[in-house]
Amino acid sequence: MTRRTLWAASDLHLQDPQNRRLVAEVTPSCGDDWLLLCGDIGSVADLRWLLSTVRPSSAGVVFVPGNHDLWVGTDDTDSATTYERLLAVCRDFDVLTPEDPWFVLETADGPRHLVPLMTLYDYTGMGNPAGSGAGLARAREAGVVFSDEFFLRPPPPHSSIADWSRARVAEARRRLDALPPSARTILVNHHPLTARPLSFFRCPHYAVWSGTSATFSWPERYGASHVVYGHQHIPHKFVENGITYLEVSLGYFREHLRRYPVLRAVCELAR
Ligand SMILES: [Fe+2]
Ligand SMILES: [Fe+2]
Repeated sequence: MTRRTLWAASDLHLQDPQNRRLVAEVTPSCGDDWLLLCGDIGSVADLRWLLSTVRPSSAGVVFVPGNHDLWVGTDDTDSATTYERLLAVCRDFDVLTPEDPWFVLETADGPRHLVPLMTLYDYTGMGNPAGSGAGLARAREAGVVFSDEFFLRPPPPHSSIADWSRARVAEARRRLDALPPSARTILVNHHPLTARPLSFFRCPHYAVWSGTSATFSWPERYGASHVVYGHQHIPHKFVENGITYLEVSLGYFREHLRRYPVLRAVCELAR
């Protein structure tokens, strides 16, 4: 009998023609597999192209947006408008997003709530207190500023991405707290949810734009068996306290030069 697999990919950055060619070569799955797309796919049109390619050959697809996906286009007033356009594409292809009820996926090790998240970042990734501005100030002093500062635009009533992040975190926490205590989860986000991956950056200041300390306790608190994310362009896998952490990014072609596979296996699904 065929093995069914939960696959994941992120940071396909499809504006890069070489990445696009590579992704187009990926063999369609057996039709019973699921796929997690963990953000930084490209433009709204790129997402539509990708979903038209992968959705027909998958039993289910989940999409969470990355910071690049949320950069405002010329027609967008803010990043929430951009997000709405991405969500509309996902609805066209029956793809699950952070705005949908959580699907319970039967894995070989039992049922798992698939939890797509969009928690963004609040500059606390290096252990700086929320709202202090210290992390951002130190990064600026070191000459490091993410393009997000120019291309991500918080929607009203939020005055900053950090403020928007705090609202998203509070809403996700409210939903997670409502799960039965025995529930097991697979947490899916663009940014890493915990501290350890942030120490992998060669430039430590990148951590400032790479998540929030508000989620650091979530994998253990909410029964995660797997935490799947991208953003770092540093693919890795480690197990900590029985939880498997997977960074599944492809990254820019100049970075990976075909060394990395487009898809990574997360776990086996029930037959
Ligand atoms: Fe990326
Ligand atoms: Fe990213």
